[in-house]
Order: sequence, then structure tokens, then C-alpha cells
Amino acid sequence: MDSIRLKNVTKIYGDFCAINNLSFNIKKGDIVGIVGANGAGKTTLLEMMMGIRKPTKGKIELLGIDFKNNSKKVKNNIGVLLQEQCVYKDAKIIELFNFFHDLYPFSLNVEEVIEIVNLGKYINVKFKNLSGGLKQRTLLGLAIINNPEIIFLDEPTTGLDPDARRALWKSILKFKKENKTIILSSHYMDEVQKYCDEVIIIKNGNIVKKDKPINLINSVVKAKTLEDAYFYYAMGEEL
Ligand SMILES: Nc1ncnc2c1ncn2[C@@H]1O[C@H](COP(=O)(O)OP(=O)(O)OP(=O)(O)O)[C@@H](O)[C@H]1O
Ligand SMILES: [Mg+2]
Repeated sequence: MDSIRLKNVTKIYGDFCAINNLSFNIKKGDIVGIVGANGAGKTTLLEMMMGIRKPTKGKIELLGIDFKNNSKKVKNNIGVLLQEQCVYKDAKIIELFNFFHDLYPFSLNVEEVIEIVNLGKYINVKFKNLSGGLKQRTLLGLAIINNPEIIFLDEPTTGLDPDARRALWKSILKFKKENKTIILSSHYMDEVQKYCDEVIIIKNGNIVKKDKPINLINSVVKAKTLEDAYFYYAMGEEL
């Protein structure tokens, strides 16, 4: 079953085409990584799927529902972590979780979410005093508090040390176990290779390739890692 379907989706800013006529489907329960150079169009694509930006042309269906027709129903079923996200920085972690919990009609239990993102030790610390890794784990927790079917994460691990990245992935993999669909962007090919079921490589608003990491690696002569395949497909470099 598909969680997401895009048909001929285009985004034009002024006279610049940021996303060019993309059509693809994403299977329920998959972790899908969107990769590409700075400015390739990842955030634009993700934010159109989240319903934050409107496509200039084309159709987006989430969980079989056309976004245009029933955006409220769709929004209750998605969770988002934005590339540049603001929360009330003076609030304690427990206060943030309680606040977001009360926003939704069918929220998960706050203790349960804090356990998933492993923040039990920090509930009385103010957001502004957390390290980068713990901030991202908080934002991830807030993204899943409404028990969404689809979770969008725009560069969730950027700037984190290897230990913090692994901790974040541990939480992400817990959602996958529950058959949730996860779509994220990343500039770290090692984590995309390790954790993603499918990779979408975009270049100048076009999909260059969409496939499993292993198939992408095997499709490029001499490529040993996804990073090798990325340089070939996204950067046009010969190995
Ligand atoms: N609101 C906007 N108005 C005009 N141009 C925009 C707007 N948002 C993005 N762009 C342009 O669209 C292109 C794609 O931007 P986008 O932010 O989607 O890239 P990205 O792949 O997420 O990059 P990064 O890796 O740096 O986050 C860029 O050339 C950017 O300058
Ligand atoms: Mg971006």
C-alpha cells in the first residue's frame, strides 16, 4: 500500500523552477531518504508533501486523500520536523510536550513519547539549555506526539555528533517497527545507506534516481558505497 503519491508535481518561484514535474509513490512502512546538493529542492519537496507549501502544478495524495480536498484530516495524520524550527526556548521539555499533547485530539501519552526519544533525564531542563542532539530528539518527540502515520524530517541529524545521530536513529527505527512511514532529507550518505529502504536523489529539481541503496551502489561501476553513487548521480562525477 502507498502512503504518498505525487503526480506531476511542480514548484515555480517567480521564473525559477525548483521542482520539475515529479511523480512517484512511497510505500507504507518505508524509510525514504531524499538526498541532493544544497539548493537541489529537498526542503521544497518535503514542505509540499507536508502541506506547508503549495505546488504550482500537480497532485499530492497522502494516505489516499488528496491534500487539496481534506487538508485537516491529512494534517492530523502527519508529524513534521522542519529544517529551521522554532519552539518556545524558555520552556522546559515537559512543558513543551504537555503543550503539544494538548493541541491534538488523539495524542500519545507524554511519558510514552519521552521514553521513545529517551529524554527522561531532561524533562525539567529548558529547551535553550539542551545540546544540539537533545534539541533534535525533543523536536522529533514533538513531531510524533499526535501518533502520525507519516513523519517528515528535514535534515534531522545535521550538525549532530555520531553518538547523537545514532541515538536519533534509534528513535526513528522505533517508529518504523510500528509500520509508520518516514521521509527525511540528509547530507550524510552513511546513515542513508544504513537505514533507508529507498533513496530519492534529486538534482536541480529533478529525480535522477529512486531506488534501494544497494541497487544504487550496484548500478555504478566501481561504486562501493552510497556516497560513491551519490557523487556519480548527484554531482556527475566519474569514479
Ligand atoms: N521561498 C522561496 N522563494 C524563492 N526561491 C526559493 C524559495 N525557497 C527555496 N527557493 C529556491 O529553490 C531552490 C531549492 O531550495 P530548497 O530549500 O528546497 O533546497 P534544499 O535541497 O532543501 O537545500 P539545502 O540542502 O540547502 O537545505 C533553491 O535554489 C532556493 O534558493
Ligand atoms: Mg533544505
